Amino acid sequence: MASLTRAGSVTVTLDGSNKSASLPLLEGTLGTPVADIRKLYNDLGIFTFDPGYGETASCESKITYIDGDAGVLLYRGYPIEQLAEQSDFVEVCHLLMNGDLPDAAGLAKFRKDVTYHTMVHEQLRRFFDGFRRDAHPMAVLCGVVGAMAAFYHDNLDINDARQREIAAFRLIAKVPTIAAWAYKYSLGQPFIYPRNDLSYAANFLHMLNAVPAEEYKVSPTLEKAMDLILILHADHEQNASTSTVRLAGSTGANPFACIAAGIAALWGPAHGGANEAVLKMLAEIGDAKNIPAFISEVKDKNSHTKLMGFGHRVYKNFDPRAKIMKQACDSVLKELGVTHEPLLEMAVELERIALTDEYFVQRKLYPNVDFYSGIILKAMGIPTSMFTVIFAVARTIGWISQWKELIEDSSQRIGRPRQIYTGADKRDYVPVAGRG
Ligand code: SDX
Repeated sequence: MASLTRAGSVTVTLDGSNKSASLPLLEGTLGTPVADIRKLYNDLGIFTFDPGYGETASCESKITYIDGDAGVLLYRGYPIEQLAEQSDFVEVCHLLMNGDLPDAAGLAKFRKDVTYHTMVHEQLRRFFDGFRRDAHPMAVLCGVVGAMAAFYHDNLDINDARQREIAAFRLIAKVPTIAAWAYKYSLGQPFIYPRNDLSYAANFLHMLNAVPAEEYKVSPTLEKAMDLILILHADHEQNASTSTVRLAGSTGANPFACIAAGIAALWGPAHGGANEAVLKMLAEIGDAKNIPAFISEVKDKNSHTKLMGFGHRVYKNFDPRAKIMKQACDSVLKELGVTHEPLLEMAVELERIALTDEYFVQRKLYPNVDFYSGIILKAMGIPTSMFTVIFAVARTIGWISQWKELIEDSSQRIGRPRQIYTGADKRDYVPVAGRG
C-alpha cells in the first residue's frame, strides 16, 4: 500500500524580511499534493488561516478518495459505480473497515459477526421512554448511541485491537436496531427485534415496518434499494461529521461517544440533514410552475434560501452518487408501480432549470447525494424525519473505519486548531462602581 512520498518542497518567504521556510511537498497515491506546514511556526513564526478547512488536509487516509472535478468516488480504490452494481452493504463494510474485499469464508464470517451483534442490551430499551413521542428520531438516535458506552464498557480499551473490533461490530450491527426502534417509538408501536435469517438491509426494513400482529415480508425491490442507499452513503473522506468523529477520537474518547458526536454533526441541514430539507423544499415549491420564482429567491442573497441537495465542497462537477441515485429512483418507482411521482417530476425540472442557469453553472452547483435520495426513501414509505437517520445508519461504517484508522495511526495527535484573535487588547478590570 502506498504512503506519503516527498515530491519537492514549497518555499514561503515573509515579505520585508529575509526569513523563508522550505516546506516539504508531499504526494499520496492519487489527488492533490500537500505542503507539510508542521514546521511553519517554528521557521517563520506564523500559522495558516483556513476557516472551514476548505484547503487543508487534516490527516492521511487510505479509506476513500474523491476527485471532485472528475466526479470520482473510490472506496479503498474501488469505484462506487462498481460497488453499487456488484457488491452489497455488508461486503462494503468489510472493505471500508479492513481495506480489502474478503474471500468467501472471510465474508461469511464478517456477515455472521455483524448479524450476531444486532440485538441490544434489554435495559437500553428504557432510554427510549425518556423521550417525547414526537422527538425527532435523530435526537433519539444520538442519545441512545451515546448511552451505549454505559452498557458496553466491557470492551472500551481503544488501544486493544480486538476491543476496537468488537466496538466496531457492535456499532455497525446495533445502530440499525436503535434507528428502527426510534421510529417505532415515535409511532407508539412495539419494538421489533432483529432477525438473523434476514440480510442487513432486509432486517432493517423488517424492524422499521413489521408489527407483531402479522407477518411482514420484505419486498426484494425495497431490500435492494435500501442496500444501495446504504452503500452510497457509507463513507466520504473528511466530511463534517467524519471530521467530528476524528476530533472526538483524537482525545481518546470511547467509540460510542465519537459516533454519537458524528450523528449530531450529520443532523445539520448543510450536511446529512439536507435529504430531509430537499423534500421540505419541494413541498414548499408545490408545483413546477413555481420553480422560476423559487430560483429567483435562491439567487437573492438576502433571502438566505439555498437550493437544498445542490452544491458540494468537493464535487465541482456531478456527484457520482447522485447519478446512481437518480437511476435507482427511476427503477424503484417503476418496480413499485409508481407511474406518476410529482416530487420526482419537480426535482427533475428543478435540476434541468438549475443546470442551465448561469448562477449555478458559475458556482459549479450540481445535485449532490441528498437531492434524489429523499424521493426514493419517500417512495419506500420512509417518513421524512427518518431520512437523516438512514444516512447515519449507513455512515456508521465510514465513521468507525475512519476512527479505527485514526487510533491506529501513530503520527496522529489530539486535534487542536489554532485561531487568529481579533478581540479586545489586554485591559484592566474595572469594578462595577467605576463603570458608567
Ligand atoms: C453532504 O462534505 C461531504 O462530503 C458531505 C456529504 C457526505 O457524503 O458526507 O457529501 C454529504 O453533506 C452533501 C451536501 C448536502 N447539503 C446540501 O445540499 C445543502 C445545500 N448545499 C449548501 O449548503 C452548500 O453547497 C454546501 C454546504 C454543501 C457546500 O458549501 P461550501 O462548500 O461552503 O460552498 P459555499 O457556501 O462557499 O458556496 C459557494 C457559492 C456561494 O455563493 P457566493 O458567496 O460565491 O455568491 O455557492 C453558493 C454560496 O452561496 N451556494 C449555493 C448553494 N450551495 C452553495 N447557493 C444556492 N444553493 C446552494 N445549495
